[in-house]
Amino acid sequence: MRVLSGMRPTGKLHLGHYFGVIKNWVKLQEEHETFYMVADWHALTTGYKKVDEIPQNIEDMLIDWLTLGIDPKKSVVFQQSKVKEHAELFLIFSMITPKSWLEWNPTYKDTKYNLLRIADLSLMFKGGLRDHIKTFVAKLPYKVEDFDALEELLLDTISDALITALFEGYLDKEMFKELNVSKRDFYDTDTYGFLGYPVLQAVDILIYKAQAAPVGEDQLPHIELSREIARRFNHLYGEIFPEPQAMLTETPRLPGTDGRKMSKSYNNAIYFADSEEEVKKKVMSFYTDPQKLRKGDPGRPEICPVFFYHKVFSPSERTQEIERECKSGRLGCVDCKKIMLEGLEAFLKPIREKREQVAKDRELLIHILEEGSEKARQIAKETMEEVRLKTRVG
Ligand code: TRP
Repeated sequence: MRVLSGMRPTGKLHLGHYFGVIKNWVKLQEEHETFYMVADWHALTTGYKKVDEIPQNIEDMLIDWLTLGIDPKKSVVFQQSKVKEHAELFLIFSMITPKSWLEWNPTYKDTKYNLLRIADLSLMFKGGLRDHIKTFVAKLPYKVEDFDALEELLLDTISDALITALFEGYLDKEMFKELNVSKRDFYDTDTYGFLGYPVLQAVDILIYKAQAAPVGEDQLPHIELSREIARRFNHLYGEIFPEPQAMLTETPRLPGTDGRKMSKSYNNAIYFADSEEEVKKKVMSFYTDPQKLRKGDPGRPEICPVFFYHKVFSPSERTQEIERECKSGRLGCVDCKKIMLEGLEAFLKPIREKREQVAKDRELLIHILEEGSEKARQIAKETMEEVRLKTRVG
């Protein structure tokens, strides 16, 4: 079976990426014909203002893919924007995709809602800041040509900086939860391209006639849309595309250091590129059962993120012992974290060493992506020939 999946190049990968996605990708390449794509055009849909970071993010992500076991001999590892045929099919699909299919997409609806909240948030910041800035500008010992313009400039810059600070984790994190916003929504996503995000994703899958796409639950509506677009195309112009199935990965979500889902935007992630020191610091700062204030208090392992890690990284007998000792109160959180760190490091250390090796050979990384993209292009080209014949254009 042909299988395709992709990931937006957001940079270095963390533990959550591995247990949620990559581990499964590695397994699939043993059983299927696998295509793994760096979705760099997709990165533009939310990050078109920050393009300077893209090349480095691609490199960092690719290093982690290879380190974690994605094998270019077994899988076609390629870069979306190197296969221009995606853009052509995206155009064709845009013609036949009803707008309502996209507007009802949950990701789009959520983002729209969050955008409104961001607008509120920036107004709030601006409201509080205006007076301070007025006073500040009035006191300036320099000759100011245009007071109003300077005030506006400062106001915009500072409120942007505050919003960024919030997203980067310098301001109280509670605010995030209260406002229910995410960093991603900070970037202007009120665009045609963002609305069309799932159409581009349908192209990624269908242009290779992949029968399945391994994805997380949040992507299910996108796969469903790919099926609908395939069906509509086939109905209008004749059978070309198989309807792809989603392959759900059933791994429990790995919590981050604060107990929430591990995510770059929450600033709670442990990266494969982190040094031993950094990992230690993160582990020691882990959130634990808030009712267990000191050694001696009985803990609740079932709600503790540290215990979740024991289940994954510590030997099972040890884990059982820790469960008992935590519940009885004999084991304190600091000691518990130290034991967890041992297990985690046993897993991370060899990966860290391999990562260093992989990162050294930049030429090879570039070569892998070029070769993979060339293979992908051959298939995409064939599909496009068929599409052009059927649609009578191109
Ligand atoms: N949208 C996916 C995500 O954010 C990434 C992606 C792009 C993808 N194209 C794809 C996943 C094709 C599966 C198939 O995770």
